[in-house]
Amino acid sequence: MSTDQGKNGDQMVSPNGVAGQPERRYAQIVGWGCHVPEKVITNKDLEQIVDTNDEWIRSRTGIEQRHVAADPKETTASLAIKAARKALETADVYPRHVDLIICATSSPEHTFPSTASIVQDALGAVNAGAFDLSAACSGFVYGLALARGLILAGDAEYVLVIGSETLSRIVDWTDRNTCILFGDGAGALLVAASNVPGGIQATVLGSDGSGADALTLPAGGSAMPASLETVSNGSHYIKMDGKAVFRFAVRVMADATRQVLEKAGLTVADVDLVIPHQANKRIIQNSILRQLKIPEEKVFINLQKYGNTSTASIPLALCEAIEAGKVKPGQNIVFVGFGAGLSWAAAAIQWSVPVEKREYGWWRSYQRRATYQAAAARSMWKRALRRVYSQVLPTPDQDEWPEASPAKEKEGSD
Ligand code: UT7
Repeated sequence: MSTDQGKNGDQMVSPNGVAGQPERRYAQIVGWGCHVPEKVITNKDLEQIVDTNDEWIRSRTGIEQRHVAADPKETTASLAIKAARKALETADVYPRHVDLIICATSSPEHTFPSTASIVQDALGAVNAGAFDLSAACSGFVYGLALARGLILAGDAEYVLVIGSETLSRIVDWTDRNTCILFGDGAGALLVAASNVPGGIQATVLGSDGSGADALTLPAGGSAMPASLETVSNGSHYIKMDGKAVFRFAVRVMADATRQVLEKAGLTVADVDLVIPHQANKRIIQNSILRQLKIPEEKVFINLQKYGNTSTASIPLALCEAIEAGKVKPGQNIVFVGFGAGLSWAAAAIQWSVPVEKREYGWWRSYQRRATYQAAAARSMWKRALRRVYSQVLPTPDQDEWPEASPAKEKEGSD
């Protein structure tokens, strides 16, 4: 267990347990950050592309506009990197302290390597493991559940959970059933081990694979490998039975919220803020507002600005809720989402960290910039070395490998 006194000034886990008693660990959200591409597509713009209209989209979904990665250099990883850097900055934690990077995404950079590995390299998170998590729009809360589990088990001190999407690249811009719904963006939360009570109190994860066909990207996997045919018939685009997903969503959003509150020992009356997956305003109204009778002012909605950004929607909404002054220490907050799989997930959080923006001064920003420049230089150097090794030097024979040595100390740990 770490004897770290907290790189961000917060009270991190320290050897404060009563003799003979293990100290209690909590998983606190200590950093948050978001990034969306600049380009905005309004409902009016969509009227020029497909047979739709602003009034229909607003009244059936609540969406008014969405951000889209128009520049080819904007990818799921590049958005994720920007959001992750902001999350680390809010927490004042350096990338080398991160133990694990989980990138939940439905539009990964590649099938492999993971988007999370690309983020890890760009951040210079030299001590972090990294993997992508595929649970569609529920993925971000799945990631938080994993982060919590690892932290409570004592296996990690800092876990970076990212939701990042460039859904505009996998959406069929001729299909009005889907293209009006989705948007691009990224959000990241840094989850830290702490001995301050609170944080992520309980999580609920669910899946019903009998609904796999209701929301799917049919081609490009092992079931339907990419071919000229799959490309020409548009099987690489999102296909959705909107009504089936709608009905499922209304049911599970309410059920999952009830379940996670029960697990956390809370009731609906204890909830201060719900941050639901931002798919459709009517889904939120029919589940959280009508079934659970949680008043509108306790439910944060920003889908009018971003559309459905899948895994990014909950962290994006959290960042905006914080900016809007809706999040305060001591509050009980619920994250709840649903998506392809079909899948659903909820988390009950007792918010315990200050939300005021802290100023760290020019020296800290300079240090941070230098860290990322060093990470880029390290990455280039390693790529060059790898090229030299594989092109110039012969593959070493078995007897040329050194004897196994004791596990190396973590790089840069202090
Ligand atoms: O993260 C999970 C992602 N998925 C979701 O959250 C999707 C959940 N489902 C939904 O949000 C809704 O089902 C939709 C927004 C997709 C559709 O809304 P709806 O109220 O279920 O509409 P509908 O599919 O029943 O269609 C009603 C009418 C149809 O016309 P007719 O047959 O009544 O003449 C559609 O053809 O609206 C028509 N329509 C449209 N009209 C204008 C469907 N899409 C559009 C459109 N613009 N974009």
